[in-house]
Amino acid sequence: MVQTSLSLSLSLSLFLSVCSSIIMVRTVAVIGAGPSGLTSIKSCLDEGLEPTCFESSEDIGGLWRFKEHLDPGRANIYQSVIINSSKEMMSYSDFPPPAHLPNNMHHSQLLIYLRLYAETFDLFKHIVFQTTVVSVRQRPDFPVSGQWEVETERTEGQRESQVFDAVMVCTGHFTQPHLPLKDFPGIEEFEGRYLHSWEYRSAEGLQGKRVVVVGIGNSGGDIAVDASRVAEQVYLSTRKGAWVVSRVGAGGLPGDLVGTSRLDKLLQKLFPSWITWMMEKNLNQSFDHRLYGLQPKHGFFAQIPVVNDDLPGRIISGRVLIKPNIGEIRGSSVAFEDGSVVDKVDVVVFATGYNYDFPFLPSGLLANSSHRLSLYRNVFPPGLARPSLAVVGFVCNLGAINPLAEMQARWATRVFKGLLTLPSEEAMLQDIKRDTSTLQNRFACLERHPLQVDHIPYLDSMAEELGVRPNLLGLLLREPGVGLRVLLGPCTPYQYRLRGPGQWDGARQAILTQWERVAQPFRTRMAAQPESKTRASCSLRLTLTLSGAVLLLTLYTRHSLSSLLSHPTGLLYKLYSPSETMWGWK
Ligand SMILES: Cc1cc2nc3c(=O)[nH]c(=O)nc-3n(C[C@H](O)[C@H](O)[C@H](O)COP(=O)(O)OP(=O)(O)OC[C@H]3O[C@@H](n4cnc5c(N)ncnc54)[C@H](O)[C@@H]3O)c2cc1C
Ligand SMILES: *[C@@H]1O[C@H](CO)[C@@H](O)[C@H](O)[C@H]1NC(C)=O
Ligand SMILES: *[C@@H]1O[C@H](CO)[C@@H](O)[C@H](O)[C@H]1NC(C)=O
Ligand SMILES: *[C@@H]1O[C@H](CO)[C@@H](O)[C@H](O)[C@H]1NC(C)=O
Repeated sequence: MVQTSLSLSLSLSLFLSVCSSIIMVRTVAVIGAGPSGLTSIKSCLDEGLEPTCFESSEDIGGLWRFKEHLDPGRANIYQSVIINSSKEMMSYSDFPPPAHLPNNMHHSQLLIYLRLYAETFDLFKHIVFQTTVVSVRQRPDFPVSGQWEVETERTEGQRESQVFDAVMVCTGHFTQPHLPLKDFPGIEEFEGRYLHSWEYRSAEGLQGKRVVVVGIGNSGGDIAVDASRVAEQVYLSTRKGAWVVSRVGAGGLPGDLVGTSRLDKLLQKLFPSWITWMMEKNLNQSFDHRLYGLQPKHGFFAQIPVVNDDLPGRIISGRVLIKPNIGEIRGSSVAFEDGSVVDKVDVVVFATGYNYDFPFLPSGLLANSSHRLSLYRNVFPPGLARPSLAVVGFVCNLGAINPLAEMQARWATRVFKGLLTLPSEEAMLQDIKRDTSTLQNRFACLERHPLQVDHIPYLDSMAEELGVRPNLLGLLLREPGVGLRVLLGPCTPYQYRLRGPGQWDGARQAILTQWERVAQPFRTRMAAQPESKTRASCSLRLTLTLSGAVLLLTLYTRHSLSSLLSHPTGLLYKLYSPSETMWGWK
């Protein structure tokens, strides 16, 4: 009796393990057609899977499609949003942005790029619009099949259920405004109007008003600047302060292309306090953060900085006044924690961030792990019997999100297919714990920014498993022109298409021409050449294929050691930025 049940359970587990190795994942439900959803569809197609994307609205683009009317449950942006990462850093790895598009695009231009991507790879036919996913549940035979029952609701109300082998959740995380009203005593009786940044569309209606903006994240900074052009006075209230960086970096190049190379990151890892000191010194040089009332307690790398080109100009002209945290609100007056009071406030805008929510998933599937979602590599819930559900695009970093979402999607689809295996549940939980404590040490107040990751290390760790991490040594030996750019140039996403699954033949060319695409949108007027200078005739390519030794030598002879000490990363970019010849016309 005991024996039969033993052998029965043995054969059952044998059966299960055989099944699990032969179960083929074929159909995938992709939820959401924003930037993360689009690249997930593309990754499915690349892996020979059959994606069906459900999008609740009538078009692609997610957050980047500006909507005239507020859309509850969806991301909303204001009319003036301009991407805070430049086009080369924000592109998909096998789809460089058109050269003519500006480096820091308006949201409407990013939408154009997304449309081009969707059209080029024929993604539209896999998208079902005006269809909201209302529930995703494991099938009764889930441990064997790994399948999910996906229930959808059409705009007109019809419900339908379909079975999928795998699910990719790409619903974004700027959908649920975080409005901590209890931290602002008296707000309920406030005589003016208050709103969350999610509701802010433009400065329309703020003419001549007195406005208090609460919170200095990217949205808070943008809205303060926006409103200050028409308002009587804008006050920007911040508890912690922030480092403010500009889109316009050294020499006018996109700020995120300068000082963000692999070598820079290595230097940062080796000499963290030196690099932090230097960053802050350079920022102080453009404007002293203490003088401007912005200086935070935390170091530059401990929090994602605010990207804002205009804020210093609005502060120096007095249109924006920086204030500490709000203590309380009395009628139409706002009292700050330092005892100062501003009377006759008309509008308070809370740029206090977002909460996240997955109303369609089984509760408990994405359990919390000290403020962070418990997701292995920010993608897979560790407790599933089969890894057939992935979350894509649920990260933020000092850099663009699209390439991260793309890497997650490439990795997840290979896991779905069984080409990559995940560690045991226990090992994944350990990994999440380790990750969380690393990030807690690295970042100030992780609880407010629980989705942060470190750009290059995060991409590299997944690329390594996928087999697409650039082989630096090999590249430097075989193709120094590409290799040096990968090492010393900006870490553009094309680096992850040089080899391995999903290799793209255009990747080399995309890397070699990246500065050309940066320069192109500036060529709107032929600028005069200083007469004393003759045009350098050697081509950029020649310069760039010089060996590393020669480059370092030039570096040391051209610039004194002291300037190297105070700005080493800035010097390196010069070698990998366009030469003067490039600024002319082709
Ligand atoms: C003001 C602002 C500025 C930003 N600037 C930058 C920047 O410069 N660079 C950068 O990299 N990132 C920026 N971000 C971050 C931005 O969130 C990401 O770049 C990106 O838009 C995330 O894409 P996503 O596809 O994950 O989500 P989203 O763009 O939000 O798309 C989610 C999609 O899912 C759909 N959906 C949701 N729920 C369902 C459901 N149940 N069923 C069906 N469909 C559903 C939605 O309709 C939507 O189309 C910014 C964010 C904000 C708020
Ligand atoms: C920046 O300026 C402030 C105020 O002058 C100063 O306290 C701080 O040390 C400076 N930081 C660096 C890194 O120079
Ligand atoms: C995770 O925790 C935060 C606050 O700590 C909460 O707002 C959020 O709803 C939780 N998410 C889940 C999925 O439990
Ligand atoms: C750009 O802004 C978004 C939204 O505020 C933020 O999540 C992201 O981290 C920012 N990127 C950079 C490079 O600051």
